[in-house]
Amino acid sequence: MSPSESAAFVRACAVSDLKEDGVISVELGGDEIAIVKTGGEVFAIRDWCSHAAVPLSEGEVDGYTIECWLHGSCFDLRTGQPTSMPATVGVPVYPVKIEGDDVLVLAVFPKTELES
Ligand code: FES
Repeated sequence: MSPSESAAFVRACAVSDLKEDGVISVELGGDEIAIVKTGGEVFAIRDWCSHAAVPLSEGEVDGYTIECWLHGSCFDLRTGQPTSMPATVGVPVYPVKIEGDDVLVLAVFPKTELES
């Protein structure tokens, strides 16, 4: 995070919006983020494959991985690291908090002039 940015937990969606092994894409802080529910846990990963920049939210969830639909790279939802080729570069993941039925994601925003 640069000095001109700040981070805050913001509501991404409702837990009840998510199906088991399901993904939805939301925009937070100017980034598209895939919100994934698997094994009863919720994860947030940038909705962007590091291999050729297609949305990961259109892929398949299998345990703690999400598979890119285009060439089949898998990414660990806990770390963002690729677990299979052809991708070799990780994808950002974001801390998640659950409050009631709300999924909160730690997103990074540009600081406003009042905050800086
Ligand atoms: S675009 Fe995702 S693996 Fe190639």
